Amino acid sequence: MKRTSFNTDLSIKNVGEEVSLIGWVSKKRNLGSIVFIDLRDRSGIIQITVNEGVEIPDIRNEYIIRVEGKVSKKEKANPNLKTGEIEVLASKIEVINTAKQTPLIIADETDALEDTRLKYRYLDLRRPIMQHYLDIRHSIKMTVHEYLSKERFIEVETPILTLSTPEGARDYLVPSRVHHGKFYALPQSPQIFKQLLMIGGMERYYQIARCFRDEDLRADRQPDFTQIDIETSFLDQDQFLTMMEGLIKDIFKRTINYDVKLPLRRMPYKEAMDNYGSDKPDTRFDIKLNDVQDIFANSEFGGFKDVEAIRAIVINKVASVTSRKVIDSLTLEAKKFGLGGLSILKVENGELTGSFAKFLSDAEVKALKERLHLVDDDLLIIAAGKYNRVCPLLGALRLRYARELGLIKPNTYDLLWVVDFPLFERDVENGQITSTHHPFTRPRDEDLKYLDTDPTKILSYAYDIVINGYEAGGGSLRIYDQDVQKKIFQVLGLSDEDIKRKFGFFVDAFQYGTPPHAGMAFGLDRLTMILGGTENIRDVIAFPKNLSAVCPMSGAPNIVDEQQLSDLGIAVTDYENQ
Ligand code: AMO
Repeated sequence: MKRTSFNTDLSIKNVGEEVSLIGWVSKKRNLGSIVFIDLRDRSGIIQITVNEGVEIPDIRNEYIIRVEGKVSKKEKANPNLKTGEIEVLASKIEVINTAKQTPLIIADETDALEDTRLKYRYLDLRRPIMQHYLDIRHSIKMTVHEYLSKERFIEVETPILTLSTPEGARDYLVPSRVHHGKFYALPQSPQIFKQLLMIGGMERYYQIARCFRDEDLRADRQPDFTQIDIETSFLDQDQFLTMMEGLIKDIFKRTINYDVKLPLRRMPYKEAMDNYGSDKPDTRFDIKLNDVQDIFANSEFGGFKDVEAIRAIVINKVASVTSRKVIDSLTLEAKKFGLGGLSILKVENGELTGSFAKFLSDAEVKALKERLHLVDDDLLIIAAGKYNRVCPLLGALRLRYARELGLIKPNTYDLLWVVDFPLFERDVENGQITSTHHPFTRPRDEDLKYLDTDPTKILSYAYDIVINGYEAGGGSLRIYDQDVQKKIFQVLGLSDEDIKRKFGFFVDAFQYGTPPHAGMAFGLDRLTMILGGTENIRDVIAFPKNLSAVCPMSGAPNIVDEQQLSDLGIAVTDYENQ
C-alpha cells in the first residue's frame, strides 16, 4: 500500500513531485468534466483534482482511497486549508475500502448531539478538531517525558488495584474473587505510592497516571482521568515550583508556541478569596470583590446585622439592561450558594436606585460611591452572610458577567500559583473538619502550635497552579514526621484503630529514614483543554464518559452474568431500572 507522505506534509515546495496518498473521502464535487475530492488523513485535508480521461471508481464520503498524482500549484489558493496553495492532479485512484453513510457529519462544525458523538466516537474522532486535541495531548506528554527525564526523574508505575487513597471523592471498588467480601479500590491518585517511592530512595519520580474518582461530573471532570504525577525529595517549595514552572513553560512553547513569562505570580489563598471569591481566580478581567462591611457598620437593614462578611462587586455598563428577570436569576444563584438573597442597586443619573435603595443612609450612599468609584449604568451587587458563601457567590457572578459581556480575550493565558492554603476546611453545613488538599500536606512550621487549639487556623505548604480560572494542578510539601502525620489523622477524626487499618503501612514506613519531599499533579486533561481551547473535558479524551458516567459507545457500566457475581460472592438486590 504505497504512500509517499501524509497530506499536510506537502506544500508549494513539492510542486512537480509524483506522490501517492491514502485517506478518507471528505467531500466530492462533480463539475462535469472535472471532479474535486477533498482527501482527509490524520494530518488534514488536501484537494485532489481529477481531470477528464482519468478513470474514477464509484466513491462516496468516507470511502478510503489511494491516489497517485502530481503536486501542482493551485490557480487560486484556499486560505482555509493548510495545503490550500496546492492540489494533486490525479493519475490513478483506487478504492481501498467502502463505507456506509455515517450517522454524523465528519467536519469540525457538527450539529450532532453529544451522546451521538460519543456513541459513534470512532467517527467523531475523524473530525480534524478532535485529532488536533489528541495531538496537543500527545505533545504535552512528550514534553513531560523529555523535560522530566532531563531533570533526572524516572517514570514508575504504581498499582491500579490498590487500597483507598484519600483525595476526598468516593472510591471505585473492585471485588476480590479470591477473598470474598474484600475489595480493592481504584486509586484516586498515586499519592501514597509516590511518597513511598521517596522513602524508597527514588528521589525524583513521575508518572502519567490514570486516576479514578466517583464524584459529581462537570465540564472539567471525568470519573477516569489522567494526571502528570510528580514527586521529589530534598527540594524546598521555591526550588520545586521553579522546576515546575520550567515544565509549564516548555509545554506552552512546544504545543502552542506561546512564551510564558517566568516566574509566575504567587497569590496567597486569602487574597484569592478576598479579591476574586475563588481559589482558582481568573484574573484576565478586572471585576474584583470589595469589602464594604465597615460602610454598613450601623446599617438599618436586618440582613446586614451580625454577619461575617459583606462584599460587593460592580459591573459596568449593564444597569440599564438589567431587567426584573435578570435580578431574579441573580437572586436564585445566591440561594444556590446558601444565601437568603442579594442587595442589588443600579446607578442612574448619579443616584443609587432599586428596591434596596430605601435601606441606605446618605452616608452609606456617599461611602459606596467613593469606595467603588460608581458611575452611571453601574450595577452594584452586595452579598452578606458567611464568608465562605458570600465570596464564592460573588466569585461565580463575576465570572458569569465576564463571559456574558465578553470581557475575556480569546487566546490569552493567565497563569499563577495560589499558595498558603488552609490545611483544613470546615464544612459549612455540618461543621466537620476535612483536609483542604489531602492529609499528607505539611502544616506551616509556625502554625503547628494551633494543632491542638484551633486547627482551622493552620496554613499549609500547599500550592495550586491556576490557568485561566482552571485548577490545572496542585500539590504540597509533605509531612515526613510520623508523629505529625498521626496527629493530622486524629484531627480529621480517625481513631488509632482507623489509622492502623487504613494507613498503618504508610506511617510505619516513616520510621526508616524518610526524606523531606514535595510533589504535585497536573491534570493532563485540563491542560489539554486549556491549550486546545475547549471548555469540554470530553473533547480531549478519546473515549470519555458522559455526564451520567456512562460510555454511550460500549454501554459501560453494564450488568454482568449471574455466574460472575456468584464467583465474587456478590448478590445484587437493587438493579437500576433497565
Ligand atoms: P488533586 O486532587 O488536586 O491532587 O488533583 C490534581 C489535579 O488533577 C486534576 N483533576 C481532575 N481532572 C479531571 N477530572 C477529575 N475528576 C479531576 N480531579 C482532579 C486537576 C487537579 O488539579 N495527589 C494530589 C496531588 C499531589 O498532592 O501531589 C492530587 O491528586 O487538574
